[in-house]
Amino acid sequence: MERRDFVKTTCVSCIGILGGGTLLSLLNSCAPLPVLKTSSKENTLLIPESSFIEKQTVLIIKNSNLEFDILLVKKKDNTYNALYMQCTHQNQPLAATKTGLFCSAHGSAFNLNGEVTVEPATQSLKKFKTQTENNNVIIYLTAS
Ligand code: FES
Repeated sequence: MERRDFVKTTCVSCIGILGGGTLLSLLNSCAPLPVLKTSSKENTLLIPESSFIEKQTVLIIKNSNLEFDILLVKKKDNTYNALYMQCTHQNQPLAATKTGLFCSAHGSAFNLNGEVTVEPATQSLKKFKTQTENNNVIIYLTAS
């Protein structure tokens, strides 16, 4: 069997094993998340709620004063989680998807509430206090 045929056969087999829906959701969860660069004012970040496009529920917030990004999660009750994307195991940056956060250093994982789902990390992520006001989400950088 030639290499091209092997790859084609293997990929078709994988799709068959995973099932179309599973593969689609897997690919969806790996899609890049929207990123918003913002500046801070008096230790707060102001994020317009309109930054969440359509059914998007997660947004990566970048701020030059922060060493790590924040994952802003819109919950079903229209409140927000602002999770600091720093692994609590050994302080490495986390990668985020629509379903959770992952650390490539040693494999820890966290859900969208910041709770550990896969060790070695044992502590939840740092969570910033949020408040909604005038169609904006205010993230308080000092409080957790
Ligand atoms: S630093 Fe993240 S799992 Fe070790």
